[in-house]
Amino acid sequence: MSPSPRVASFWLDRYPTDAFSRLDEASDAKFYATARQGPHVDALALRTVQRVVGTLLTEYRPRVLDLMAGTSSHLPADLDTERVVGLGLDEQSMVANGRLSEYRLQDLNQNPELPFADESFDAVLNTLSVGYLTRPFEVFAEAARVLKPGGLMLVVFSDRLFRAKAVKLWRDASGSERKMLVEEYFASTRAFTELHSFVSRGRPRPHDDPYAGFGIPSDSIWAVYSDRRGAPAGRGVRPGILPVPLPGPSREDLERRKREVRYTLRCPYCDEPLIKFELASSPFCEWPNAFMYVCFNNDCPYLVGGWQVMNEQGNPGFSYRLMYNPEQDRCLPVPVPSVAAAREYTVTPRG
Ligand SMILES: C[S@@+](CC[C@H](N)C(=O)[O-])C[C@H]1O[C@@H](n2cnc3c(N)ncnc32)[C@H](O)[C@@H]1O
Repeated sequence: MSPSPRVASFWLDRYPTDAFSRLDEASDAKFYATARQGPHVDALALRTVQRVVGTLLTEYRPRVLDLMAGTSSHLPADLDTERVVGLGLDEQSMVANGRLSEYRLQDLNQNPELPFADESFDAVLNTLSVGYLTRPFEVFAEAARVLKPGGLMLVVFSDRLFRAKAVKLWRDASGSERKMLVEEYFASTRAFTELHSFVSRGRPRPHDDPYAGFGIPSDSIWAVYSDRRGAPAGRGVRPGILPVPLPGPSREDLERRKREVRYTLRCPYCDEPLIKFELASSPFCEWPNAFMYVCFNNDCPYLVGGWQVMNEQGNPGFSYRLMYNPEQDRCLPVPVPSVAAAREYTVTPRG
C-alpha cells in the first residue's frame, strides 16, 4: 500500500513547493534529543486527548502503534493491550512512557517506511505531532498498510506547536484548515472509510494552570479519525465523543461564591444561574420554606463528580444536584437518580 514515488509526488505537487518546509531544517533527532518532554497542552486538553483515545479505541486487547510517540500514549489506565509500539525520535520520552511494550527510533521525515508487517495493528495513533511531518502522504499510506482492515487511525492535534519544526502549511493554517489538511492526508491513501472529526475549543483554562487568569482559553483539541476499509461485516460504529466535564472552581473561589449565593443566585460550582423551585406538597417533605433554588446544569462538576462519589459509597446510579435554601442561606445536596428524572424527582418547577 506504500505510495509509489509517482503517487506521493502527485499529492505533493498540489501544494506550493515550500509547503512542507520548516524554519529549522536541522536534524530532528538533535532537536528532540534535548528534553522536549510533555505535557504539550494544558491539563483539560490533556484529559480531552485521553477521552478521545479512550472512547474510540474499542478493540479488545488492541495492538497499538503510537506514531511519533512521547512520554504518554494517552491510553486509558484500565485498557488491557496486547502490544503498544512507540515510534519516534525521543528515546528518553519513550523509555519514560509506561504504556509502551517496545519502541523504535526512526526519523519519519527521512524514512517514512514503517518497519512493521502489513495489517499488524488494530489502531494507529498520532497525537500532538502531525504538523511536524514533511512527508505526510507517505507516512499515512504506511499507517494504512500496517493497520488491519477495520482498524482505527486516529490523529489528534492542538493549536500548540514547536513552530520551528512545524511545516509551513501547518504554521500558516487555522484550526479548521489544519483539520482539512489532515483529512486530505487520510483521503490521499484511499484506504479509509468515512472520515469523522471532533473538536474541543473555547473552554476555560484550568484554574491551576500557569496561564490561568490571562483570558487564554484551554488549548483546543482536534481529532480526525477513520477505520481502514474492509472491516468484517456487522461491526458496530465507534461511539461518539463527549466533552470532558469542566473542572470545579478553586477552594477559595468556591467559598467566596457560596457566601455570595444569596445575591448572585448562581451555582458556586459551575456559576450557572440557579432555578427557583416550589417544593412538592407531600407528607414526606419537611422543608419549612416554600421554595428552593437548584442547579440544573448537567455539566456542573458538583453533579458530574457526584455519580462517582455515590457509586463509591454503594449507591450506584445516583448523584446530587446543588440546592440553595434561601431561608437558611445554605447550599446542600439534593439526591437525584438520573439526569433525566431530576426535574420531576424532588421539586416541581414554578414555571
Ligand atoms: C509534541 S511531541 C508529542 C509526543 C506525543 N505523541 C504526545 O502526544 O505527547 C512530538 C513528538 O513527535 C516526534 N517526532 C517529531 N519529529 C519526528 C520525526 N521526524 N520522526 C519521528 N518522530 C518525530 C518526537 O519524538 C516527539 O516525541
